[in-house]
Amino acid sequence: MLQTNLTLNRAWDALITLSATFAALVIPIKLVVGWQNRTSMIYFDAIGTAVFSIDLLVNLQRTRYAKQDKFIPEKKRGPASLQRGWLIVDLLAALPLSLVFNIALLRFLRFLKLARVAQFMRQWRQRTVKHSNVLRLAFFAYWFLLSAHWLACGWLALRGVAAASDHWTSYLRALYWTIQTLSTVGYGDVTPATNAETLYTMGVMIFGVGVYGYIIGNVASILANIDPAKAQHLANVEKLTAFMNYRNIPPPLQKRIRDYYAYLWEKRMSFDESNVVFSLPPSLRTDVSLFLKRDIIETVPLFQGAGDAFIREIALQMTPVIFTPGDYIYKAGELGRDMYFITQGTVEVVSKDGNMVYVTLTVGDFFGEIALVLSQPRTACVRAVSYCDLYRLDKEMFDRVLVNYPNIAAEIKAKAMERKKGW
Ligand code: CMP
Repeated sequence: MLQTNLTLNRAWDALITLSATFAALVIPIKLVVGWQNRTSMIYFDAIGTAVFSIDLLVNLQRTRYAKQDKFIPEKKRGPASLQRGWLIVDLLAALPLSLVFNIALLRFLRFLKLARVAQFMRQWRQRTVKHSNVLRLAFFAYWFLLSAHWLACGWLALRGVAAASDHWTSYLRALYWTIQTLSTVGYGDVTPATNAETLYTMGVMIFGVGVYGYIIGNVASILANIDPAKAQHLANVEKLTAFMNYRNIPPPLQKRIRDYYAYLWEKRMSFDESNVVFSLPPSLRTDVSLFLKRDIIETVPLFQGAGDAFIREIALQMTPVIFTPGDYIYKAGELGRDMYFITQGTVEVVSKDGNMVYVTLTVGDFFGEIALVLSQPRTACVRAVSYCDLYRLDKEMFDRVLVNYPNIAAEIKAKAMERKKGW
């Protein structure tokens, strides 16, 4: 029901946009050409009055909803604004004044309806996050073409339609003059002949410079915004490079840092997953965490038999960490504050001096549990062999797991005891 209402509202707004645009195109051209008293124009006025009167009733209805002292969601109210001022605009645009008084200029009251169109566009852009930039361009093109049409009609009014062989050619020449003046190209093949035309041309030129500046500014900002994540990443890398040079960080270390950022960009698009998740409301947080951590839940055998409650809890608590090749994740003898699960990459358990490799662990394995289970220092060093995507579980959460999920705790403990035997 709500969806139907919403679709109807939008369809109606689209119809009003079309009608207002049509009126904004047709009225000036008919006035310039001198067709204001033709029968077609009378029909046109009558249809305009009918459509805009129905719109007035529709908007009255929407206002009535808003006046009742209860909250109506924006979707149900429809996207039109409900302020009283708008109803006056709607009323003026709907009045059949040009039919009653036969004064051509009264038709321009219909132009008020374009304010509504501007309002629909604003609302549409607010709702549309994904293609906001494309919409911005499309709306700009709409207003630009409409303005060009009006300016061309103004030029035609000054120059007179009789100058060319037919109305269509006259209009096309006028539009050609407008576009070349607005775009500041100005070939100079159509030039002002009278004082009025010269003044008009100067006005259009000044307007054109503004439009041109707007286009240049906006195109640059739209291009920069096409991929904001990448732009942000490149800015970060640039800042980092400046810092590394300033602090004379040795080239091999610089290379490792750069490689790390490149990997981060490739893997997670440089988003700090934890921050993104924790900025969400709690209800969304768990679901998003579950989705993001599905890789670890799927790859670590320990989690596969675990119940739903455990998975939901652990998904929220584990934080993703990346290690680069050669990094020491643990050093033998350290105190244990956390353990890791491997979702990608390989690590090796090595002796204190790093020369002897005891065992290699890979996707789905976990390590660092001995120090936590037995409350003792790390038995060995652990070193990343390749880029490793790991999930870190801190001691506090680990202790909670031991208490709340005895089955999982038993499995981790058994593994710890088995590995400990060799030491
Ligand atoms: P911890 O002692 O906390 O830190 C080093 C980790 O290396 C250790 O926990 C285990 O998770 C892991 N580890 C140590 N020895 C072995 C082994 N023989 N096989 C597999 N993993 C081990």
